[in-house]
Amino acid sequence: MWRSGWITWASSPVCVAKSGWRSGLTSRIPKSLVKPQGQFTHRLSVPKNALAHAIKNLHRRICHPDPFYRDLHDNEKFVRISAMEQKANAAERIIRRFGGQSALAALLGKRQSTIEHWARTGRVPAQWQMPLMSLGRQRGVVLEARDFVELKPNPIQPAEGRLGILLVGLGAVASTFISGVEHARRGSGRPVGSLTQMGAIRLGKRTENHSPLIREFVPLANLDDIVFGAWDPFPDNAYEAAVKCGVLDRHEHIEPIADFLKSIKPMPAAFDQYYVKRLNAPNVKRGAKMELTEQIRADIRTFKSANNCDRLVMVWCASTEIYIEEGPSHLNLESFEAALDANDETIAPSMLYAYAALMEGIPFANGSPNLTADIPALVKLAIDQGVPICGKDFKTGQTLIKTVLAPMLKARMLGLNGWYSTNILGNRDGEVLDDPESFKTKEESKLGVLEHILQPQLYPELYSDVYHKVRINYYPPRGDNKEGWDNIDIFGWLGYPMQVKIDFLCRDSILAAPLLLDLALFLDLAKRAGMKGIQEWLSFYFKSPQHAATVYPEHDFFIQQTKLKNTLRWMMGEEQITHLGLEYYQDYQED
Ligand SMILES: NC(=O)c1ccc[n+]([C@@H]2O[C@H](COP(=O)([O-])OP(=O)(O)OC[C@H]3O[C@@H](n4cnc5c(N)ncnc54)[C@H](O)[C@@H]3O)[C@@H](O)[C@H]2O)c1
Repeated sequence: MWRSGWITWASSPVCVAKSGWRSGLTSRIPKSLVKPQGQFTHRLSVPKNALAHAIKNLHRRICHPDPFYRDLHDNEKFVRISAMEQKANAAERIIRRFGGQSALAALLGKRQSTIEHWARTGRVPAQWQMPLMSLGRQRGVVLEARDFVELKPNPIQPAEGRLGILLVGLGAVASTFISGVEHARRGSGRPVGSLTQMGAIRLGKRTENHSPLIREFVPLANLDDIVFGAWDPFPDNAYEAAVKCGVLDRHEHIEPIADFLKSIKPMPAAFDQYYVKRLNAPNVKRGAKMELTEQIRADIRTFKSANNCDRLVMVWCASTEIYIEEGPSHLNLESFEAALDANDETIAPSMLYAYAALMEGIPFANGSPNLTADIPALVKLAIDQGVPICGKDFKTGQTLIKTVLAPMLKARMLGLNGWYSTNILGNRDGEVLDDPESFKTKEESKLGVLEHILQPQLYPELYSDVYHKVRINYYPPRGDNKEGWDNIDIFGWLGYPMQVKIDFLCRDSILAAPLLLDLALFLDLAKRAGMKGIQEWLSFYFKSPQHAATVYPEHDFFIQQTKLKNTLRWMMGEEQITHLGLEYYQDYQED
């Protein structure tokens, strides 16, 4: 008699088929001891002591200890249990852990038909996930947020046809991005800074020496298949915008592609000066908020058919709006749509674009710190519509450095007294951020980083009293060539003080453009892979990453990078890289 439902590891059949015990069990049975017999077999030879050890570990994760499992010593049974687990969907696996449908219905005081419905659809509705987790805690049932999702990757649809990238805002970042992609296509410039274009990914063990380019490993849209659309309250086309922003050398990078840039004209924007005080421009849509979303949706459809696009993604790279806190109008779709109908001021223009994109089934990324799609109503809409979203605020200059340095301080257990960051910046973004209300939105986005990385609650002696200050000063002579200074007061052995000084003379849009490209291509990939809702694996690109309500955001640059690459490996059915590496020393130890 086979009973199942107690074991909580996940191992995809693809992985088992391809490489033996490659996924969940790798850490428990040394891979060198596992000898797959044939391409796809349920019989693996593992020495008994290794298996016994693995089972002992698994016992810790078995919710209802049962003599049946204690007797389990045969690896064939082991694999069959694994196979049974794989057949069940996420909801069924959870239901089994609580003893089956009727037992769970009784525990929750719900009708069994409700639980049957969850099992049939494979999904436990979001509002039941937290209650089930706390019920699990009470009853000693191991249940984590990730158990509610299918951990098997979906097949990825090919990147055939044209991809339209819709840019909200045709300013410095957007025009630099478009120009760079066009130069890369023509072979007159290199897409430096773009992981999708230049990065490689290691697969398998270090001894295998296999590190293909990311764009050859995952099916990404080809740069030649990209078309651009944009909205902006200024009527300047991409050529005029690029010239005015002054990021690129006019002679070398703008004039040679002038005709192409002139062909990209901004559609009238859903813009309201209330939200961006320092701008006033004529190329705007008229109407109440709900009507504006209809107009944006009409623009999307017209653009798609006029440009013969197969797929679209939208990226907000428009100005930073005033600070808005999440409130009752953002709670769910009903309250959000009611607020739209009522022209409520808690619904900013960026939310109109995000809502329109999601309603049209288009992935959405937010490159600025605005609240935008980081509200329960739009996160839920993204899930319901099967659309991936991510944000917020491109991680480019000072915060990029901060999320690299702060993990080093923590890794070495060096203390921190203060971190003073200041910038001078003279582009339109700098002008917008000169308004205290827009600056507050940016400030919130930049300040959260240190606290999350340094974890003062875990290390009060080192990080409980950190003075963290961030300033942005509008200084027109510098244009887009920002200068960011950091003064960092640290302390070491016996509390002796030390200082780190950084003077980063960067170019804001040169750093942001490759992120925009990667985000557009990865979001399109995620959509074709059936991924929906918040894409936390894209945190790597953001100052203030959108994250599930149940977890804190991950700011550490290197954890973000590992997460991104492991997600790509997972999507392609490849082994995750844990960096444990003990297997390289196995032979030595056995000798
Ligand atoms: N450049 C960077 O390194 C960087 C880094 C992180 C975040 N960001 C953010 O990216 C955004 C763009 O930066 P930028 O340097 O290109 O700024 P920018 O001022 O050059 O361009 C923004 C454009 O958005 C337009 N805009 C404003 N409201 C709009 C609306 N409702 N609809 C459509 N267009 C609208 C403006 O007219 C402007 O042309 C800003 O929010 C900025 O804070 C930039």
